[in-house]
Amino acid sequence: MNARRTPFGLEADGGGMSRAALGGRFTFPGTSLTVERIGYGAMQLAGPGVWGPPGDPDGAVAVLRAAVAAGVNHIDTADFYGPHVTNQIIRRALHPYSAGLVIVTKLGARRPADKSWQPAISPRELIAGVHDNLRNLGLDALDIVNYRAMGAIHGPAEGSIAGQVTALAELRRKDLIRHIGLSNVTAAQVAEAQAITDVVCVQNNYNLAHRGDDALIDNLARQGIAYVPFFPLGGFTPLQSSTLSAVADRLGAKPMQVALAWLLHRSPNILLIPGTSSVAHLRENLAVGRMTLSPETLAELNGIAAAAVAAKH
Ligand SMILES: NC(=O)c1ccc[n+]([C@@H]2O[C@H](COP(=O)([O-])OP(=O)(O)OC[C@H]3O[C@@H](n4cnc5c(N)ncnc54)[C@H](OP(=O)(O)O)[C@@H]3O)[C@@H](O)[C@H]2O)c1
Repeated sequence: MNARRTPFGLEADGGGMSRAALGGRFTFPGTSLTVERIGYGAMQLAGPGVWGPPGDPDGAVAVLRAAVAAGVNHIDTADFYGPHVTNQIIRRALHPYSAGLVIVTKLGARRPADKSWQPAISPRELIAGVHDNLRNLGLDALDIVNYRAMGAIHGPAEGSIAGQVTALAELRRKDLIRHIGLSNVTAAQVAEAQAITDVVCVQNNYNLAHRGDDALIDNLARQGIAYVPFFPLGGFTPLQSSTLSAVADRLGAKPMQVALAWLLHRSPNILLIPGTSSVAHLRENLAVGRMTLSPETLAELNGIAAAAVAAKH
């Protein structure tokens, strides 16, 4: 068989792809929910500062429809994006939802009129948050809800989350939530939550240059729990690295594609939810499912985080 090796897999002459189109599938532990490893994060669909409607609502609908048409079946959202805006756009674009579409939302924050992000963690606020999500998404039950701890400015902060996780477990018993995840949490908080209920995913800040969760990812992988990095492309400060750019040039890919491909290679329990308001960027991100990085390239990319840490000191 004559196959041409490209960073996007083996092409031509009947050569099989080395990876499934959207990075392969993952089943959340203890659930019947199976998703493609490349999903979509909806936060970029709200207006500037994740506040109010987008400048181009039809464009936002088009991005969601293009994602689902391409096979994406894992969408990340929150009713506090906008607030309410991204959920309402998801409903407009995709309702009635196709079987197999998994919408993951989160509770734990609210957006007052000053556009700040404030904790909303009392049982009353968590219950109200579930009903906001159900109403705005047009659902009777939420597939997966992450309890999103507010933490400190730069990431998670230690402290008990038992009260909030217990409240979510109670909502699960009432069939308003099917499964529970966590976001912006420490390893100790994950363990604390697991003593209360099953945890199917953890969503924390992690990417090529920000690797504080390496040990947590490996621990969750051993348990079959999904790790879903937020800011996979750097979020509000897009990843920039001469190594990343050089690797991308060499492979004939875009730097952001290499950053996502590195995450898919990092651990089989990593699921991607890159955010974009652009159909062109969406297509670039989905193409990553067919990218293969060699061990040498992975080693080169692994040096980026160490260089980022050294540059801070
Ligand atoms: N749990 C949490 O606390 C938390 C926090 C933040 C985010 N999230 C979730 O995680 C998802 C991902 O995070 P994020 O959207 O903040 O950050 P991200 O995915 O790291 O980056 C999004 C940024 O990258 C740009 N981008 C996307 N694809 C690109 C491409 N192919 N080429 C160049 N630029 C590209 C987007 O701009 P364009 O729109 O121009 O493409 C946007 O500015 C969110 O959508 C949200 O669902 C969760």
